[in-house]
This record gives sequence, C-alpha cells and structure tokens, in this order.
Amino acid sequence: MKNDPVVAIVGATGAVGAEFIATMDRRGFRVGRLKALASARSAGKTISFRGQTIVVEELTERSFAGVDIALFSAGGGIARQFAPAAVRAGAVVIDNSSAFRMDPDVPLMIPEINARRIREHKGIIANPNCSAITALVPLWPIHRFNRIKRVILSTYQAASGAGAAAMQELLESTRACLDGQPFQPTVFPHSCAFNLFSHNTAIDPATGYNDEETKVMRETRKIFEDERIAVGVTCVRVPVLRAHSEAITFECERPISEDEVRGILSAAPGVKIVDDRVRNYFPMPVDASGQDDVLVGRIRGDLSDASGHSISMFAAADQLLKGAALNAIQIAELLPQRVMAMD
Ligand SMILES: NC(=O)c1ccc[n+]([C@@H]2O[C@H](COP(=O)([O-])OP(=O)(O)OC[C@H]3O[C@@H](n4cnc5c(N)ncnc54)[C@H](OP(=O)(O)O)[C@@H]3O)[C@@H](O)[C@H]2O)c1
Repeated sequence: MKNDPVVAIVGATGAVGAEFIATMDRRGFRVGRLKALASARSAGKTISFRGQTIVVEELTERSFAGVDIALFSAGGGIARQFAPAAVRAGAVVIDNSSAFRMDPDVPLMIPEINARRIREHKGIIANPNCSAITALVPLWPIHRFNRIKRVILSTYQAASGAGAAAMQELLESTRACLDGQPFQPTVFPHSCAFNLFSHNTAIDPATGYNDEETKVMRETRKIFEDERIAVGVTCVRVPVLRAHSEAITFECERPISEDEVRGILSAAPGVKIVDDRVRNYFPMPVDASGQDDVLVGRIRGDLSDASGHSISMFAAADQLLKGAALNAIQIAELLPQRVMAMD
C-alpha cells in the first residue's frame, strides 16, 4: 500500500538477508517497496519477494533516499560506514552486527524482554548477539521471578552463524572428508567436518575470552539492565549446519525448583519446552531449524549446588531466525506503535 514503509535490506544476498525476506513474507510484514543492497559483486543479481523480482543494487551512501526502515546484515564495518548515512536519510536502522550494541544511545532489543526500549532510539536499534538471544529469551522470565545472580553457559554453534560461505564450507569439507580428499578451509581457521573448535573470533590475551564470549557477557548485562549479574561463557563451533545449542546453568537469589522453572517457561513468549525424559528427547538443532521459538529442555536441579538455588537446562534456537532476522523483524513491527505513541 502507498503508506507502507520502504524497506532496504543491506546484505540481502547473505544468510541473514535471505531470512529477512522469508520472515517478512511469512509474518505478513507490510512493505511498500523493497530495496535489496549488497556489495558490487552482487549488483544485478535478482531475488524474489512476494512474486516480484527485485534487482540487487550496490550499497552506496545514496542508497537510502526514501527508505523508512533499513535492515542491516553485512557486518560491523559496513554498519559503521553506512548506518549513519541511512539515519541522515530518515531511515530507522536495525543492525545485526555488533557495531552499535554497547553504545549507550542505541537500544539493544529482544522484544520479549525490552520492547519498551523502542521509544529511546535515535535512528539505530541493535539486534543482540545470536548466542545471547538464545540464552536470554528463556532466562528473562526466570530472572523476573527470582533474580539470577550467576549464569554459566557453553555454546554449540552452527556453521551458519558465520554466514552463507561458512555453511558451504561445512558441506564441502564433509564431502571431502567422506571422499578421503584433503580440504583446506578458507572461512574457518580449522576444518569443520567431524570436528569442533573454540569459537573463531579473536581471543583477548588478557582475559582468555574470545569476542563472542565477551559479547554474550556484556550484552546480558545491558539487556537485563543488571550490572551485577555474573556471566561465564564458553563458545564452541560445531559441525551443525543451522541452529545454535547451549548448555545453561544459572543460580538464583532464592531457592528455585525445576517445576517452578517449567511452569514459568511454559508460559514464556518465544519459548517452547522440549523435555521428554522418557524418550530421551530434548532440544536439537534439527528441530530448532526453521522455526521461531527457543527450544528448552533438560530442565533439572543443578546437583553441584546443594543449596537448591541452581538449575541446569539445554536450549536450541535457529540463530538465523530468532538470533537474527526474526528478532529484527519483531523490532521493526514495533516501530509503528512508537509513532502512534508519540502522536
Ligand atoms: N549468520 C548468523 O547466524 C548471524 C546471526 C546474528 C547476526 N549476524 C550478523 O549478520 C551479519 C551478516 O551475516 P550473514 O551470516 O548473513 O553473512 P553472509 O552470509 O556472509 O552475508 C553477508 C552479506 O553482506 C554483504 N556484504 C559484504 N560486503 C559488503 C559490502 N562491501 N557492501 C555491501 N554489502 C556487503 C554480502 O553481499 P555479497 O553477497 O555481495 O558479498 C552479503 O549480502 C553479520 O554482521 C553477522 O555478524 C549473523
């Protein structure tokens, strides 16, 4: 319709870009016109959206004239370089990179947790790290019921978290391995096939934590608005194509039972409990792939904490959806409400 927003996707040819398009379509997100932007390499390629063929254009500072909402998924450098131009042109930017997440002027939003922050944006809204989203969607309603003092989580992160080329590399390295052929990885530092390795982001030599782990720790404190919450993270890349999994243990201020946690999570938005001890059926990336909820299971009292304050659980979520495109579209869906609220 005439008044529907003009939407630009920066990184339209990427793994997240493809999910932006599919998610807008699936959720009936109103789009007046769609602009698909990517690097010069992709200019002239086409993508389809609601029966229309959209020609991909090279991203430039002039790309944003007339754009209302700019969905960025092209990395931190591109976001830092082009998001200000989009804002100057009058667009609201929702960025998937880490470029602006810790900027105090930029809301870092998971709609199930802090939708009210939409009112505070000054043109840029940040989508949190995908591993942070997977943990925080289920932890938030527990934190509200009985404050979480400490979280320890370990991730099992899919190749697609590093983009379309990384998914391809997992497939090709697996094929080479099965064929007994040598394989030289170019996206990851190590071969993915039948292997796992510490997350491929840079390690801080002073702390021993890599960037991914540091992001989860810092972003948790910002999103929960709780500087005291202690978070320890170990991030690992596993040979899974899509959807991240996480083993999570948390300690609350007061004693908490697994039944209380199950009750809270059964009513929590964005969470689906998959916790079948009889069948030994728990969250798996194959089940999480392509669907919106964070799957949570293996909910059990942490036997290493005799005080009864701690619970362990296991989660899996499609990091291309709730960890990226879906969360961003959910944020975009809040934008008209902001306009109405300010009228
Ligand atoms: N993958 C995930 O699960 C995930 C989750 C959360 C957040 N994110 C974030 O989302 C962003 C994109 O991730 P992705 O997985 O979609 O990566 P990807 O599959 O590698 O796609 C990258 C996209 O960025 C575009 N791009 C690269 N250089 C560009 C340039 N100079 N100018 C314009 N566009 C350029 C690429 O266009 P060409 O095709 O033309 O190269 C492509 O469309 C990253 O910031 C990532 O950290 C990803």
